[in-house]
Amino acid sequence: MARRIAVAAAFLTLALAPAALAQAPGPAPSGPPNVTAILEKGGQYTTFIKLMKMTQQDTQLNSQLNSSYGNSGGAGYTVFAPTDNAFNNLKPGTLNSLTQQQQVSLVQGHILPSFYSIDSFQTVSNPVRTQASGRDGPYTLNITATTNNQQVNVSSGVVVVTVNNALYSTKPLAAYSVDKVLLPEELFGAKAPAAAPTASEGKPKKGGSSDAASGPAGSADSAPTGAASARAVGWSVAGLAAVLGYLL
Ligand SMILES: *[C@@H]1O[C@H](CO)[C@@H](O)[C@H](O)[C@H]1NC(C)=O
Ligand SMILES: *[C@@H]1O[C@H](CO)[C@@H](O)[C@H](O)[C@H]1NC(C)=O
Ligand SMILES: *[C@@H]1O[C@H](CO)[C@@H](O)[C@H](O)[C@H]1NC(C)=O
Ligand SMILES: *[C@@H]1O[C@H](CO)[C@@H](O)[C@H](O)[C@H]1NC(C)=O
Repeated sequence: MARRIAVAAAFLTLALAPAALAQAPGPAPSGPPNVTAILEKGGQYTTFIKLMKMTQQDTQLNSQLNSSYGNSGGAGYTVFAPTDNAFNNLKPGTLNSLTQQQQVSLVQGHILPSFYSIDSFQTVSNPVRTQASGRDGPYTLNITATTNNQQVNVSSGVVVVTVNNALYSTKPLAAYSVDKVLLPEELFGAKAPAAAPTASEGKPKKGGSSDAASGPAGSADSAPTGAASARAVGWSVAGLAAVLGYLL
């Protein structure tokens, strides 16, 4: 009898363990947060992770988080992570039209060099600077919140998106999910360079402002199967650029 109960209990433990793991709210509390691991855990940020890797902003931010960790005077960091869906909804070729440096700026434009809890958006002073900067100084975002913080919007000047759930929110890192890519004004809006100084490879660049204006309409002709295909293609580092090229 006792043995039977023990066996049943063991079986139950095994059966429940994966569920319990899946529900664990956050990563291990000790050590600095690893933004890559946090986004991987989110499961729907594969394109943003690839872009971070390609532009080396994953190691950059992780090393900044490491320096910031345990340093109570450090300002911390906030990341707005666009979902794979957000990237799929971009006009095809949008990211490939960017130079490597512009891709770095695009990623950095989603990262604030300051930790913002969801409540602190209420009192944020706009414009908020990002990690990206260009000739005219840092790329900025405007953040507006309803008084109860039920809705927080982030504007890049080209795109406005409502902030979704927090993937992580313990100093030094806050990471929020967003359904749109925050296309910077400096690259896609009124402040976009009229003519690219360097010859651009591939298709001719379309006008920045008309691109921006047609934003959501671009979803109609984007490939809906991108994420699944990328998973099938695999993750080799050598294939990364090819996969991204295919995806975007
Ligand atoms: C962060 O997590 C990623 C993915 O799990 C891992 O490959 C990487 O080595 C980690 N980086 C650090 C600094 O721990
Ligand atoms: C994090 O910083 C500590 C010192 O502050 C250093 O010893 C360690 O190697 C760093 N780890 C990573 C992954 O950069
Ligand atoms: C957020 O954006 C939506 C849609 O653009 C708008 O209806 C709403 O009023 C905005 N909310 C805030 C707090 O800015
Ligand atoms: C932020 O708001 C200011 C004032 O309304 C405006 O001039 C600026 O263009 C906005 N910037 C962005 C990135 O939305």
